[in-house]
Amino acid sequence: MEVVFKTQNLEQTEKLGKSLGKTLVKGDFIALTGDLGAGKTAFTKGIAKGLGIEDDVTSPTFTIINEYTGPVPLAHMDVYRLDSLQELENIGFDDYLDGYVVVMEWADKVKELLPDDVLWIDFMVLDDFHREIRFLSDSPYYDSKLRELSI
Ligand SMILES: Nc1ncnc2c1ncn2[C@@H]1O[C@H](COP(=O)(O)OP(=O)(O)O)[C@@H](O)[C@H]1O
Ligand SMILES: [Mg+2]
Repeated sequence: MEVVFKTQNLEQTEKLGKSLGKTLVKGDFIALTGDLGAGKTAFTKGIAKGLGIEDDVTSPTFTIINEYTGPVPLAHMDVYRLDSLQELENIGFDDYLDGYVVVMEWADKVKELLPDDVLWIDFMVLDDFHREIRFLSDSPYYDSKLRELSI
Protein backbone atom coordinates (compact mmCIF):
# COMPACT_ATOMS: atom_id res chain seq x y z
CA MET A 1 0.00 0.00 0.00
CA GLU A 2 1.27 3.46 -0.87
CA VAL A 3 0.16 6.67 0.81
CA VAL A 4 1.42 10.13 -0.16
CA PHE A 5 1.20 13.32 1.88
CA LYS A 6 2.37 16.82 1.08
CA THR A 7 3.39 19.08 3.93
CA GLN A 8 3.71 22.85 3.75
CA ASN A 9 6.01 23.50 6.70
CA LEU A 10 8.13 21.90 9.40
CA GLU A 11 5.26 21.75 11.89
CA GLN A 12 3.08 19.70 9.52
CA THR A 13 5.88 17.20 8.94
CA GLU A 14 6.34 16.81 12.69
CA LYS A 15 2.60 16.40 13.15
CA LEU A 16 2.48 13.66 10.53
CA GLY A 17 5.34 11.91 12.34
CA LYS A 18 3.44 12.20 15.60
CA SER A 19 0.37 10.57 14.09
CA LEU A 20 2.50 7.63 12.93
CA GLY A 21 4.26 7.47 16.29
CA LYS A 22 0.96 6.95 18.07
CA THR A 23 0.47 3.68 16.17
CA LEU A 24 3.96 2.23 16.79
CA VAL A 25 5.05 -0.44 19.25
CA LYS A 26 8.32 -2.15 20.20
CA GLY A 27 9.75 -4.14 17.30
CA ASP A 28 8.49 -1.78 14.59
CA PHE A 29 11.07 -0.63 12.04
CA ILE A 30 10.71 2.62 10.12
CA ALA A 31 13.14 3.10 7.22
CA LEU A 32 13.55 6.71 6.05
CA THR A 33 15.05 7.81 2.73
CA GLY A 34 15.47 11.11 0.92
CA ASP A 35 17.90 13.97 0.51
CA LEU A 36 19.61 16.02 3.20
CA GLY A 37 17.21 18.61 4.54
CA ALA A 38 14.14 16.78 3.28
CA GLY A 39 12.64 16.43 6.78
CA LYS A 40 13.63 12.98 8.04
CA THR A 41 14.83 14.24 11.42
CA ALA A 42 11.85 16.59 11.78
CA PHE A 43 9.52 13.66 11.14
CA THR A 44 11.40 11.55 13.71
CA LYS A 45 10.93 14.29 16.33
CA GLY A 46 7.21 13.91 15.69
CA ILE A 47 7.39 10.11 16.01
CA ALA A 48 9.07 10.54 19.42
CA LYS A 49 6.24 12.80 20.56
CA GLY A 50 3.70 10.24 19.39
CA LEU A 51 5.50 7.57 21.43
CA GLY A 52 5.18 9.77 24.52
CA ILE A 53 8.90 10.61 24.70
CA GLU A 54 9.54 13.99 26.31
CA ASP A 55 13.27 14.40 25.59
CA ASP A 56 14.37 16.58 22.72
CA VAL A 57 15.35 14.46 19.71
CA THR A 58 18.54 15.56 17.96
CA SER A 59 20.16 14.21 14.82
CA PRO A 60 22.37 11.14 15.40
CA THR A 61 24.45 11.92 12.31
CA PHE A 62 27.74 11.58 14.23
CA THR A 63 26.69 9.09 16.91
CA ILE A 64 24.82 6.79 14.45
CA ILE A 65 22.39 5.75 17.21
CA ASN A 66 20.58 7.81 19.84
CA GLU A 67 18.34 6.03 22.35
CA TYR A 68 15.38 7.56 24.13
CA THR A 69 13.45 6.09 27.02
CA GLY A 70 9.74 6.62 27.54
CA PRO A 71 6.45 4.73 27.42
CA VAL A 72 7.68 3.22 24.15
CA PRO A 73 11.49 3.38 23.75
CA LEU A 74 12.98 4.78 20.54
CA ALA A 75 16.28 4.01 18.81
CA HIS A 76 16.95 6.78 16.27
CA MET A 77 19.67 5.87 13.78
CA ASP A 78 21.31 7.80 10.96
CA VAL A 79 23.64 5.73 8.78
CA TYR A 80 24.65 8.58 6.45
CA ARG A 81 28.25 8.54 7.69
CA LEU A 82 28.51 4.80 8.21
CA ASP A 83 31.62 3.29 6.60
CA SER A 84 30.57 -0.35 6.50
CA LEU A 85 27.78 -2.75 7.43
CA GLN A 86 30.19 -4.28 9.92
CA GLU A 87 30.38 -0.98 11.79
CA LEU A 88 26.63 -1.03 12.32
CA GLU A 89 26.75 -4.60 13.58
CA ASN A 90 29.59 -3.66 15.94
CA ILE A 91 27.48 -0.87 17.43
CA GLY A 92 24.97 -3.56 18.40
CA PHE A 93 22.31 -2.90 15.77
CA ASP A 94 20.60 -6.27 16.37
CA ASP A 95 20.12 -5.52 20.07
CA TYR A 96 17.65 -2.74 19.22
CA LEU A 97 15.32 -4.69 16.97
CA ASP A 98 13.00 -6.22 19.57
CA GLY A 99 12.89 -3.77 22.44
CA TYR A 100 12.61 -0.45 20.60
CA VAL A 101 10.82 1.33 17.85
CA VAL A 102 13.70 1.79 15.40
CA VAL A 103 13.69 4.78 13.04
CA MET A 104 16.61 4.80 10.62
CA GLU A 105 17.59 7.70 8.34
CA TRP A 106 19.29 6.73 5.04
CA ALA A 107 18.13 3.13 5.55
CA ASP A 108 18.59 2.32 1.83
CA LYS A 109 22.36 2.31 2.51
CA VAL A 110 22.10 -0.81 4.69
CA LYS A 111 19.19 -2.71 3.09
CA GLU A 112 20.96 -6.04 3.61
CA LEU A 113 20.75 -5.70 7.39
CA LEU A 114 17.11 -4.67 7.72
CA PRO A 115 14.31 -6.91 9.03
CA ASP A 116 12.04 -8.51 6.42
CA ASP A 117 9.05 -6.29 7.05
CA VAL A 118 9.76 -2.58 7.43
CA LEU A 119 7.79 0.58 6.69
CA TRP A 120 9.58 2.67 4.05
CA ILE A 121 9.05 6.43 4.00
CA ASP A 122 10.62 8.58 1.29
CA PHE A 123 11.01 12.35 1.65
CA MET A 124 11.24 14.68 -1.32
CA VAL A 125 11.96 18.40 -1.35
CA LEU A 126 9.42 20.18 -3.59
CA ASP A 127 10.52 23.73 -2.73
CA ASP A 128 11.73 25.69 0.32
CA PHE A 129 8.74 24.73 2.45
CA HIS A 130 6.92 21.94 0.67
CA ARG A 131 7.80 18.28 1.09
CA GLU A 132 6.31 15.13 -0.46
CA ILE A 133 6.28 12.23 1.99
CA ARG A 134 5.62 8.81 0.48
CA PHE A 135 4.80 5.81 2.69
CA LEU A 136 5.31 2.33 1.29
CA SER A 137 4.07 -0.75 3.15
CA ASP A 138 4.39 -4.38 2.03
CA SER A 139 2.25 -5.91 4.74
CA PRO A 140 -1.25 -5.76 6.25
CA TYR A 141 0.54 -4.99 9.53
CA TYR A 142 1.91 -1.63 8.35
CA ASP A 143 -1.07 -0.98 6.02
CA SER A 144 -3.30 -0.75 9.07
CA LYS A 145 -1.00 1.87 10.61
CA LEU A 146 -1.03 3.91 7.39
CA ARG A 147 -4.81 4.09 7.55
CA GLU A 148 -4.49 5.99 10.86
CA LEU A 149 -2.30 8.77 9.47
CA SER A 150 -3.34 12.39 9.39
CA ILE A 151 -1.74 15.84 9.37
N1 LIG B 1 7.54 20.94 5.04
C1 LIG B 1 8.70 20.80 5.73
N2 LIG B 1 8.92 19.66 6.44
C2 LIG B 1 10.09 19.47 7.09
N3 LIG B 1 11.10 20.35 7.10
C3 LIG B 1 10.93 21.50 6.41
C4 LIG B 1 9.73 21.75 5.71
N4 LIG B 1 9.86 22.96 5.10
C5 LIG B 1 11.08 23.42 5.43
N5 LIG B 1 11.73 22.56 6.21
C6 LIG B 1 13.12 22.73 6.69
O1 LIG B 1 13.88 21.66 6.14
C7 LIG B 1 14.84 21.18 7.06
C8 LIG B 1 14.61 19.71 7.37
O2 LIG B 1 15.69 19.27 8.14
P1 LIG B 1 15.83 17.79 8.71
O3 LIG B 1 14.55 17.36 9.30
O4 LIG B 1 17.03 17.82 9.58
O5 LIG B 1 16.12 16.98 7.35
P2 LIG B 1 16.88 15.59 7.14
O6 LIG B 1 16.90 14.89 8.47
O7 LIG B 1 16.06 14.89 6.10
O8 LIG B 1 18.25 15.93 6.65
C9 LIG B 1 14.69 22.05 8.32
O9 LIG B 1 15.62 23.11 8.24
C10 LIG B 1 13.27 22.58 8.19
O10 LIG B 1 13.09 23.84 8.81
MG1 LIG C 1 18.49 13.99 9.51
